[in-house]
Amino acid sequence: MIRVLFVCLGNICRSPTAHGVFQHKLEQRGLAAYVEVDSAGTAAWHAGKSADARSVAAAAERGYDLTPLRARQAVAQDFDAFDYVLAMDADNLHNLQQLKPAAARTEPALFLASFARDFQQEEVPDPYYGGADGFEQVLNLVEDACDGLLDDITRQLAGKGVI
Ligand code: 4NP
Repeated sequence: MIRVLFVCLGNICRSPTAHGVFQHKLEQRGLAAYVEVDSAGTAAWHAGKSADARSVAAAAERGYDLTPLRARQAVAQDFDAFDYVLAMDADNLHNLQQLKPAAARTEPALFLASFARDFQQEEVPDPYYGGADGFEQVLNLVEDACDGLLDDITRQLAGKGVI
């Protein structure tokens, strides 16, 4: 099993979008049995809540279902439990670096900087206080970086002879 954790601030907009998009892409490629996906927030404010209705609606327009997802806060154990800990922006990354125990296995990384292909920007902007365009842009960025991540994981699985 390869385990992927997407992290933003509230775990109700950007990281649930990445979670739903990546899960969908894994299912489309027949890889869902080999990869576990989760998402979390650096803040606890929305723990237990559904994704933001604007994220749910924008994702549904493109065929992604975010309705089963519930927010949780990132915890120190995540850096041993997950193989990828992917931050949506530089603040999230900084907070994750503070949270990670020194001896824990997985270093957090910026999702776009690591895996985006069509977009040059390194961060997924926080759409929470903005308009509908921000939620579309989150989807555009996340879809692109999910394709890059999927290729990376596909190569790993093939290298291990799993697929
Ligand atoms: P997210 O967006 O980090 O993409 O889930 C936010 C959600 C909530 C808040 C800020 C950003 N908030 O301030 O409550």
